[in-house]
Amino acid sequence: MKSLFAAHTLGSLTLNNRIAMAPMTRSRRPDHIPDLDTAEYYRQRAGAGLIITEGTFVSAEAQGYADVPGLWTDEQAAGWAAVTEAVHGAGGRVFAQLWHVGRVSHRSLQPGGAAPVGPSTRRAQAQVWIGDDGFADTDTPRALRTDEIPRLIADFTDAADRAARAGFDGVELHGAHGFLIEQFLNPRVNDRTDQYGGSVENRARLLLETLDALADRVGAHRVGVRLSPFTLANDLPADDEAEEMYAYLAPELARRGLAYVHLSDLRLSGGPDIAEDFLKTFRYAYDGTILLAGGLDRTRAEYLLTADLIDIAVFGRPFIANPDLPERLRDGLPLATPDPATFYGGGAKGYTDYPRH
Ligand SMILES: Cc1cc2nc3c(=O)[nH]c(=O)nc-3n(C[C@H](O)[C@H](O)[C@H](O)COP(=O)(O)O)c2cc1C
Repeated sequence: MKSLFAAHTLGSLTLNNRIAMAPMTRSRRPDHIPDLDTAEYYRQRAGAGLIITEGTFVSAEAQGYADVPGLWTDEQAAGWAAVTEAVHGAGGRVFAQLWHVGRVSHRSLQPGGAAPVGPSTRRAQAQVWIGDDGFADTDTPRALRTDEIPRLIADFTDAADRAARAGFDGVELHGAHGFLIEQFLNPRVNDRTDQYGGSVENRARLLLETLDALADRVGAHRVGVRLSPFTLANDLPADDEAEEMYAYLAPELARRGLAYVHLSDLRLSGGPDIAEDFLKTFRYAYDGTILLAGGLDRTRAEYLLTADLIDIAVFGRPFIANPDLPERLRDGLPLATPDPATFYGGGAKGYTDYPRH
């Protein structure tokens, strides 16, 4: 029987257990460069079999929230090098989450105050954190031209190069939560008439071409992808072709030999977004490693592992307040409750000051 607490092989890596730390934005880096507190935060959580970092912008254009780290300059990569060294020194493994928000952005965060980019000019009815001025409504995007797509993909591969040089064990493409990649997948945001819009195959093209380019650059076994089927996050309209999309994607992703597919269930409406039937269907069609995040506790994680629906259980908020979460789960110790007031922004409080048991 698969155990949460047994070692697991992921590509060429051995993970100490099947518990991963979910990517979580903490908005503490106004200069976009991870610092010693960042390194300490991740070092404290290196008991996870795998850490996936907070979303990390691949370019200046990719930004949609203030105070988030990046991987588009060498200074940013140098900051991350201290993070990977700290995690490796504590026996952990760490992937960088590569993020482009697409239309979920504001001009004040864009180079030269330009409009954010997206698959179309359809605006998200959403708000983003812009720093000292608080939250702002997103701006209307401009549609990416077809001839810009190679440059866009190169932004991801350049970031992956920097991630590799900074010592990351791999990268996770953020294809979830209504950000750029998922905006392309969605037939009601993506109204393009070029080869990146229209059919399921065309809407999936940016995702798959980006994954191929990343795999070429750092090796497929070092590339994971996060997807959130059925999410309505960031004003993503309900997609009645989602089943069809995922039926197409599952074998396409499988034949690429990626490190993993990471399914994110945000449970925005309270209940699960990802029905167990979907997991079964996806599992059958995708024979690689599956990670799942969203409201897990030990019981639910063990059930999903035992039912062979997932390979690695991903925990988000519990890792914020419990740096030694794997040990606490293993030993049945009580879990501390994280304080949402310190999720985003601020300093050490609510970040590096949660004690071990
Ligand atoms: C403070 C916070 C920041 C988050 N930032 C990200 C992010 O940068 N990238 C991402 O893919 N998901 C992000 N998420 C979603 C988490 O990765 C995770 O899917 C979610 O918290 C559900 O898991 P949980 O119920 O175990 O917390 C964030 C969640 C929280 C609470």
